[in-house]
Amino acid sequence: LPSHYTLPSGDKIPAVALGVWQAGKGEVGEAVKTALKAGYRHIDGAWVYRNEEEVGQALRDSGVPRDQVWLTSKLWNTFHAPEDVEPALDESLQKLGTEYIDLYLIHWPIAFKKGSNNELDPELTANPYPTWQKLEELVDKGKVRNIGVSNFNIPRLRNLTANPLKYKPAVNQVELNYWNPQPELLQWAKENNLLLEAYSPLGSNKQVKETLQLPEVKAIAEALNITPAQVIISWHVQRGTVVLPKSVTPSRVVENFQVVKLPDELFNKLEKAATSHPPQRVLNPSKSWNLPFDVFDDDG
Ligand code: A2P
Repeated sequence: LPSHYTLPSGDKIPAVALGVWQAGKGEVGEAVKTALKAGYRHIDGAWVYRNEEEVGQALRDSGVPRDQVWLTSKLWNTFHAPEDVEPALDESLQKLGTEYIDLYLIHWPIAFKKGSNNELDPELTANPYPTWQKLEELVDKGKVRNIGVSNFNIPRLRNLTANPLKYKPAVNQVELNYWNPQPELLQWAKENNLLLEAYSPLGSNKQVKETLQLPEVKAIAEALNITPAQVIISWHVQRGTVVLPKSVTPSRVVENFQVVKLPDELFNKLEKAATSHPPQRVLNPSKSWNLPFDVFDDDG
């Protein structure tokens, strides 16, 4: 299996990252240190996870040089107004204690009004290009090495990339798991040289138990003498995506980094099982944000 993917910038992004969403204060630092010791060189974070200080501290404590670790952060919905983008990034840089990050994503294709945490800004939501241009400037300033998006569906990707972009989105980070494997988006991404990153790859805390108990997953685990989590994480990399398993349990952090190529027949079986049931999204904040549409609907 590939250990890295090459982005349009030429940078190589490690295929397996530690995800730190819902990794709380007092535990995320240990998880990061355990991960770096186990060989991870990619931490996927965001401003809104409220743990960037502890992540940065753990990275410095680990002794692993900054330039050997891939750091991702994300621009929160409140800061899409062009004049708010650079200050938002600066805050993340300052918290992480670094001069640059490797990847900066627009966290959601949803802009909130300035200073608000739930009031939709319809204009900046319909047209993310002014926000994107600011991300492009951050690349030119050297504060960010690569830029991308998160939670964009195909129409929203088309809408953004219809503009005369200086840098195209290098990645789209989306929910991908057994329950919601999004084969059409994956196909579209491959055709358009866009790398997908799988968040909640195990089904998040809501569905992880069910995922790891699936008979087809358990059967592969037994056949290959690996764990169910390793089957799922390997499957993601074999599909050609970055995978971002979250854990704050040291033994699981170590376990999740061991990916192996599944024999084609077993991979195909799992792919077929995942894509044969009606897709069911595990996470969707549209209701809690009172959006007048579903953020993932094609006409959203
Ligand atoms: P914890 O962090 O307490 O170890 P996802 O990556 O899909 O978002 O899933 C994260 C959830 O899965 C968390 O509840 C995490 O628990 C749990 N988890 C992560 N890795 C494993 C594993 N190898 N085995 C069992 N549960 C896991």
